[in-house]
Parts: sequence; structure tokens; C-alpha cells
Amino acid sequence: MLTVKEMNDLEGKRVIVRVDFNVPLKEGTIRDDNRIVQALPTIKELIAKGAKLILMSHLGKVQHKLAKDDPAKLAKQIKEGNMAPVAVRLGELLGKPVAFVPETRGEALVEAVNKLQNGDVLLLQNTRYEPGEEKNDTELSKIWASLGDAFVMDAFGSAHRAHASTYGIPEILKAEGKPVAVGYLVEKEIANLTRCVDVKDTDRPYIAILGGLKVSDKIKVIDSLLKKCDKVLIGGAMAFTFLKALGHSAGDSPVEDDQLAYAKNCYLKATGKIVLPVDTVVTDSFDPAIRTTVQTIGTASIPEGFQGLDVGPKTRELFASEIAKAKMIFWNGPMGVFEQDSFQKGTLAICEAVAKNEKAFTVCGGGDSAAAIKQFGFVDDFSHVSTGGGAALEMIENDGHLPGIDVVL
Ligand code: 3PG
Repeated sequence: MLTVKEMNDLEGKRVIVRVDFNVPLKEGTIRDDNRIVQALPTIKELIAKGAKLILMSHLGKVQHKLAKDDPAKLAKQIKEGNMAPVAVRLGELLGKPVAFVPETRGEALVEAVNKLQNGDVLLLQNTRYEPGEEKNDTELSKIWASLGDAFVMDAFGSAHRAHASTYGIPEILKAEGKPVAVGYLVEKEIANLTRCVDVKDTDRPYIAILGGLKVSDKIKVIDSLLKKCDKVLIGGAMAFTFLKALGHSAGDSPVEDDQLAYAKNCYLKATGKIVLPVDTVVTDSFDPAIRTTVQTIGTASIPEGFQGLDVGPKTRELFASEIAKAKMIFWNGPMGVFEQDSFQKGTLAICEAVAKNEKAFTVCGGGDSAAAIKQFGFVDDFSHVSTGGGAALEMIENDGHLPGIDVVL
């Protein structure tokens, strides 16, 4: 695997860098610039090597299929996906201007690329403005590949997508004998997540903590982690599907009835590896405005009219005691609705327990749990917090493989 550090003779070369600048935006303001910050080492290295940088990223969802049935929704997605604020923030972080081209192809783009001086940085408009991006369209990939003399993949968060900008471009450039490499962020993500995939004896007990809403989204990752881990702690809403499958009542909590058979079978097959909540914090309404009560139910069974929005104190202790024994921990998915004060104790308890266990190698698989770690101030207590939720999970599921990385190898 060629890395950006090992790339030579880049002086004056046009280097396409696929970054993941899919940052949270509200009314054009960036809420969290972590993904931009994490791409800086690669960008700075290429600037120092005198390359001409052409940065590409997607931003949000752009569902071109809405063009016929809901053009207003598509127009909104396009408006919200404008990369312009990202170029401004990147310029601030780099301390040098970033040329923003509000196009994804055409004369203006080619002209802007031709004008680049050594060490200059250019950012294209959102790659998903192109209907061919997500289809890995060959013509589009060829147009984009023609802009570069080399390619660097540093978009770890998008490495599970075989799209034109993540897969098509490197495939073409590689076939043309041009250098194709991974950036510092991708290198770091691979090193940390591979350790959670190829487990060494010295990393045992290895414990996974899974939360979030749906079992159906995580079936492959549950199956994979059960093969690799010594214990899998399951919290969040997805625990209710397991609890119902084992004969508990879930009250009004979200349950995926079509996953009950899977959950039961999975739990029984795991022979004690799966640890489920033993108590729950319940409420009569998800909506705080009409909520009349928040209480702890001392068992895993919830009466009708109530829904569980966090794990209870006994579960927090139980999970913390497992975490204390671990030498390696992989965490994905919050234990409750941590965005609401009344239901954040479960997720906070995971952060605290991980922070206390100083001997363990601890990885957070991104997404909502990474947001919680940041909100509660525990980023420095983890060995690694991934920038990619979906990508980290797929890497665990596929034994370390992701299309956007494999194509570079
Ligand atoms: C992410 O935020 O997980 C990545 O940027 C990928 O985005 P996507 O799920 O829209 O492909």
C-alpha cells in the first residue's frame, strides 16, 4: 500500500485527493469541522511536496431520483449540499486561500485546474451533484480522472462507497500507471480498526458495545463481532428487540418484529456472550413537551404505555464491570437518547467506564457514539475515535475490507 508520505516527485503534479468533508451544517454554518481537521495532515504533506491539489468530496444526500416526483425536495438537498462554506473553513484552517469551483465538470473547472500553481489547493463542488457519482459511472470517472496525475484516498468515512470519486477515479489512474495512494487519515483508521478485526490473544478479553436504533442495520456486524469478541454488550433501542425475543415485554419501545426470530437465535447461539440490559429508564413520551414522567423500571420488562429511552443504573454497573475487565473495546451506538438530558446517563457511563480502563485499547466506531464522546468531553480517553460510522462498521463486517481502500492497494 503506497502512502502519501512515500509519494515522490509530486512537484507540479495535479493530485486528486478524495476527502470526506461530509460535515454537519446548519443554515450554511459548519457545526463540527472535525472531518476537515482530520484531513489536514495529508493536505499539508501534499502542499509541502509542491503538488497542485484538487480536493473532492460529497456533502449530504442528493437523491436525483426525486427529480420527477419531488423536485422541491431535490432542490433543497442540492442547496444544502453546497460545498462553499467548507472551502472557506478549509482556507481558515490552512491559513491560505482555497479556490472553490462551484462546478463538478466543464470549462470553468478545467481552467481553474490549469491555473493552479505548485502548492495551491482547489475544492470542487459536491460530487453528488452528479447523478453518475453514486452509480460509479464510467464516463464521469474518466472526466474526473483526466484532471489528475495522481490520486490520494483520504476519505475514510466514504471508503465503503464504491462511487465514481472513491472507486472509479483510482481504478482508472491505476490502470494508466499513475500513482494511487492512501492519506494519513485512512492509514490511521486502517491501523486502528484492523486491530479490532485481526484480534491478538494479548487483546483479550475483547468486548464490543453496540447500541443504536435498529437490529436490522447491524445484523452483519453483530454476527462478525460475536465471532471475534468475548462479550457483546447490547444497549440502545436495539436491545428491546432482543428482550422481546426472549419473552420480556417492551411496552411502547421500538421493536423490529421481523427481527425477533433472528434476535432469539443469535442470543441462544452466542451462549452467554451477549449481555442485555437488566433495567431501563422509561417515559410516557419521547417528546419532552408532552412528557409527564421519567422513571426507572427495575427489570427489563416494560409495561404498556411506556417506552425505554436509556439503560438503567443496574445495567450501567453491569456494563461498566465488563468494560473494566477488557483489554480491547469496540463501541458503536449510544445506549440511549443522549441528546436529551434525562436519557444520557447510560451513554455517559460507557464513556466513564472506558476512561477508567487505562490498560485497554479502545475504539469508537464513529457516528452517534462519536458525537456523544465529543459532547461529554471524552475524546482523549479513547485510543481511536473513527471519522466514519458506516465505514468502520463495514470494515468490521468485511474482515478489514472496504472497496475504496482495496482499489488503492
Ligand atoms: C458518512 O457520513 O457516513 C459518510 O460521509 C458517508 O456518507 P453517506 O452515508 O451519505 O454515503
